[in-house]
Amino acid sequence: MYKYFANAFVVNEGKEGYANILVKGNRIEAIISEPLSDLPLGTEYIDCTGLTLIPGVIDCHVHFRQPGMEYKADMESESKAALAGGVTTVLEMPNTNPTTTSIEELENKNALAQENMYCNYGFFLGLTNSNSEIAKNISRDLCFGLKLFLGSSTGNMLVDNKSSLDELFSITDKVISAHCEDEAIIRENLSKYKSEYGDNGTAILHPKIRTSEACYKSSAFAVQMAEKNSTRLHIAHISTKKEISLLKSGKIESKNITAEVSPIHLWFCSDDFEQYGNLIKCNPSIKTKEDREALREALRTDKIDIIATDHAPHTKEEKQKPYFEAPSGIPSIQHSLLIMLQLVKQNVLSLPQLVEKMSHNPAILFDIKERGFLKKGYFADFVLINSKEKTTITKENLYSKCNWSPFEGETFDSKIVATYLNGEKAYENGVIQPQKAALKV
Ligand code: DOR
Ligand code: ZN
Repeated sequence: MYKYFANAFVVNEGKEGYANILVKGNRIEAIISEPLSDLPLGTEYIDCTGLTLIPGVIDCHVHFRQPGMEYKADMESESKAALAGGVTTVLEMPNTNPTTTSIEELENKNALAQENMYCNYGFFLGLTNSNSEIAKNISRDLCFGLKLFLGSSTGNMLVDNKSSLDELFSITDKVISAHCEDEAIIRENLSKYKSEYGDNGTAILHPKIRTSEACYKSSAFAVQMAEKNSTRLHIAHISTKKEISLLKSGKIESKNITAEVSPIHLWFCSDDFEQYGNLIKCNPSIKTKEDREALREALRTDKIDIIATDHAPHTKEEKQKPYFEAPSGIPSIQHSLLIMLQLVKQNVLSLPQLVEKMSHNPAILFDIKERGFLKKGYFADFVLINSKEKTTITKENLYSKCNWSPFEGETFDSKIVATYLNGEKAYENGVIQPQKAALKV
């Protein structure tokens, strides 16, 4: 019933230092700086000497493809990839098949998750041109946020009707996570480059079609609507320098408009299309080095509040199609924490900032109770990291069902040693524990 995590280097709420954590059942009983001399009888002792312990990562933007696209991925495979990557809770997006745009589909997803998820979970309701009434009245228990596609992407969930948008932006008691890319600009560029290149187009064209201007125009529109209506707007996967001018710095609690960036947009830049091609085709597109620098800077200055993956698996076969046919999306949930730890090593951000943006802030924004922090009484969701051991990514150690990653062959300077979920060991040294400890958050 008791577990004692001894002598860990703990990072939590802006502080770093050695501590011991006593867990009772699925919750944190005590966090103490001096070792406990009297452990309760039968306590399991977990020696964390040399390891860093942080609250489990909460990834508020993932696509797990179930129901309907299980040939690409499913809840079991992707939630295992999450655990192997130190992610303990996911909020999953509605562009499945059928789309998650009704109460019935949310209930269906929750039932599927109860059977199949290995990490904690919650779901988004997808907004449409005609479901504002459902979105207004839906219980918080059933959905954690509303997803709005202001630009079309995988799943054709574009919302483009003016009066529907007025209705949707008038919802103020739930977070609207918006995919912002201007549809008219994209369509125009797409037809121009298709006629120019025909079958010879490559992924180098992607940021020329899904441009910075398309992102800025759509994000500016969303911000303007949110300011007018006091909407709780969260801009998903910011990818450009220009959009950052729309954001304010400050603590997440003080803002009505927040923003997220993906490790993918922080890691790659448009120079990488030559090497990776469609493997790094995603929406919004990866932009220039200058954009990437601005995104990194915006993390440090708290203009960007959250790091979330937009984990979006497609099969290798699909990604190997010609550029215009290949779907957008990159699997990354297993490597997001490793990528961000690498950026900590490169002084892009500090370790407490990483924890704030990958664990604390998603819990605050989506009101995920008793998670995201190391606090007495909170759920014991932990990641144990060895920052002196390297990890090389190979096909053999991937959990995502699509079984490819743009990081194959990459070596990161840290290792995720173990992930604890609701007080139970869920992953350790390459092995997922067979028993499920996952909970709906
Ligand atoms: O690249 C993307 N892939 N962007 C999205 O908006 C959707 C996602 C997917 O579901 O494949
Ligand atoms: Zn997405």
